[in-house]
Parts: sequence; C-alpha cells; structure tokens
Amino acid sequence: MTPRLRARVAGVGACLPARVVTNDELAERIDTSDAWIRERTGIRERRIAAPGETTSALAVAAARRALARAALSPAAIDLLLVATSTPDHTFPATATAVQRELGIPPSPAFDLQAVCAGFVYALTVADSLIRTGHARRALVIGAETFSRLLDWEDRGTCVLFGDGAGALVLVAEEQTGTVLDRGILAARILADGRHYHQLYVDGGPSSTGTVGRLRMNGREVFRHAVTAMTESAREVCRRIGLPPSEMDWFVPHQANVRIIDAVAKRLEIPAERVAVTVDRHANTSAASIPLALDRLVTEGRLEPGQLVLVSGIGGGFAWGSLVLRW
Ligand code: ACO
Repeated sequence: MTPRLRARVAGVGACLPARVVTNDELAERIDTSDAWIRERTGIRERRIAAPGETTSALAVAAARRALARAALSPAAIDLLLVATSTPDHTFPATATAVQRELGIPPSPAFDLQAVCAGFVYALTVADSLIRTGHARRALVIGAETFSRLLDWEDRGTCVLFGDGAGALVLVAEEQTGTVLDRGILAARILADGRHYHQLYVDGGPSSTGTVGRLRMNGREVFRHAVTAMTESAREVCRRIGLPPSEMDWFVPHQANVRIIDAVAKRLEIPAERVAVTVDRHANTSAASIPLALDRLVTEGRLEPGQLVLVSGIGGGFAWGSLVLRW
C-alpha cells in the first residue's frame, strides 16, 4: 500500500431558479402534452431563470451552500472550475465572475465546456490537479441557463431542458491508496467529434456571430448515450476492481428516465440505488449530476463511505464516468 493524495468530497450544494414551468404550461404555448413529455422523458417540470438571473448567479448560490456544508470560507479555495455551455459572456470565463462574487483569492479559475458531460470532465480535471499537488481545495461547479439557448418553437427540444446549478468542494487528503479511500477513485473521459452535428447550437462568435439555438437528433443521441455511458461506467468500475452492481449509488446525467433506466439495467444496478431527479428540473446539462448528488445528501440517502458511480454524456459527443467514495 502506497499512500497517495486523494480528492475527497467535503461539501455539496445546489441552486434552482424559483420559477417552475410545468408540462401543462408548455402545452398552452406549443403543440405538446404532459402525457407525451412524461412518457418519453419522465420530465414533469423544469426551472427557468428569471430575466437577469445569470449562470454565474446560480453558480454562486450553489457554491455558497457547498462551502457552508464543507465548513470552508471562500478564502480557502485555490482552484475554481465552472462546467458550463451557457457562460455569462463569451469571455472572460464565468469562473472569474464567480471568483469575484465569492471573494476567492487569486488562483486558477476557468470554465470547462463538455456540455452535459461537463461535470464529469471538471471533476476529473480537478482530481488530477489535486493529486499532482497543484491545488488543495477545489470548488467544482456545474451551472447552466439552457433556457436561453432553446428554440421555444421546437417542441422536440424545448420541453427537455431547464436551468440550475450544483457544486462540490474537493479537498486534498493523504490516504492509504486502496479502494477503501474516500474521494475520487477512478475516472474516464472521452469525446468523439464525428458526432458534432447530432446535438449542437447553430451559432457562436466564430461561425455566425450569433448565440444560436440548440439542435438535436434525438434518436441518435439516445442510442449513443446508452452505449457510451454503459461502457465508460463499466471501465471505471473495472479499474477499481468492483462490478457496477456493487455501487451504493448510480448518479447518471439527468437527461431522460428512459436513458437512465436503460443504462442502469445494462449495469445491473437496481432502481432503488439510481438517483433520478430529471422529473423535477428536466435536463440541466452540466448541473444535473451535482443537483442529483445534492438531493441525495439533503434527503439523507447518500452517506459518508458509500461508493458512487457517476456518468454523463453530451454534445460532441463528449462523455465520461467516475467512481468516488463519498
Ligand atoms: N410533444 C408532442 N409530440 C412531440 C414532441 C413533443 N414535445 N416532440 C416530438 N414530438 C413528436 C414528433 O414530431 C413525432 O411526430 P410524427 O411521428 O408525427 O413525426 C413523434 O413525436 C415522434 O418523434 P420522435 O423524435 O421520433 O420521438 P422519440 O420517441 O424519439 O422521442 C425524444 C423523442 C424524447 C427526444 C427521444 O429521442 C430522446 O429522449 N432522445 C434523447 C434526447 C436527449 O435526452 N437529449 C438531451 C440532450 S443529450 C443528453 O443530455 C444526453
């Protein structure tokens, strides 16, 4: 046994905008129904940011709660990552707006863009920087205002997404170097740009000079999501020498209950150990995994020492999985 540095979770926090938009409310504006949306996706309602309520504002609120749970002040943070595809401005990084607002001293602060896989990517990067001694206390946030990228005339996409933010505080800790350690134990991130146009935004500063709107080939996304999440989840479990069925919790990206169910079934993880929160806030992209973790902790269901398998996929396609002991 060789002692090694681990990135242990010290706190989790979340923030959802106050405004709830139900499926029925959407059905008043576009040709859809509560029954169609629930049957195909499991979504019942989503939260939509108020005018002026920015990605950084949601991120700051989630971060304050995570810091309070970790009993740390912003001054203790020496690495700040914000996973987002909906930054406040094209630049500077939304992370620097969060840094300014929280009063985090000069230290690395940057955005990371891997769409719905963003939080798994950000945790993986933070874990690497902690284990190599570049940081000791990291704030990792997933925050999105996807409502601002949606084509509200396109019923095939606008019903699927919502706004929100979630955050984790990670702290460096010397541990034994075994699978019994607390913190991030294994991670795997991947992307395959051949699928660029299956899920994308049709604008941007360098292409059209506009913000653009989200476009998606839903069936292709569905198919790849199930395969990619299952394979990467199996891979990280293999790396720690345990089958997915031995995980205490599976916390997948919350896009759609049918994707979640299909992946959990392939991994042989029973429904009672799968976090499902997509019904309450729809797909919040990079925020969905920390939002689900926050819910489990708030409800007293996720306890210190439990093994958690997280997995996500998004545009690119970009995807990844990670195992941590809470
Ligand atoms: N309300 C009512 N009818 C609708 C709606 C809606 N909101 N949206 C589409 N339809 C209609 C279509 O127009 C179509 O009608 P038609 O047969 O008359 O042409 C019919 O429903 C079937 O459409 P499909 O797109 O074939 O429906 P499908 O069963 O594939 O379900 C869905 C669509 C829910 C998008 C599914 O493909 C899916 O879940 N894909 C994954 C997408 C996803 O989760 N994306 C999130 C981003 S990626 C990520 O986070 C992993």
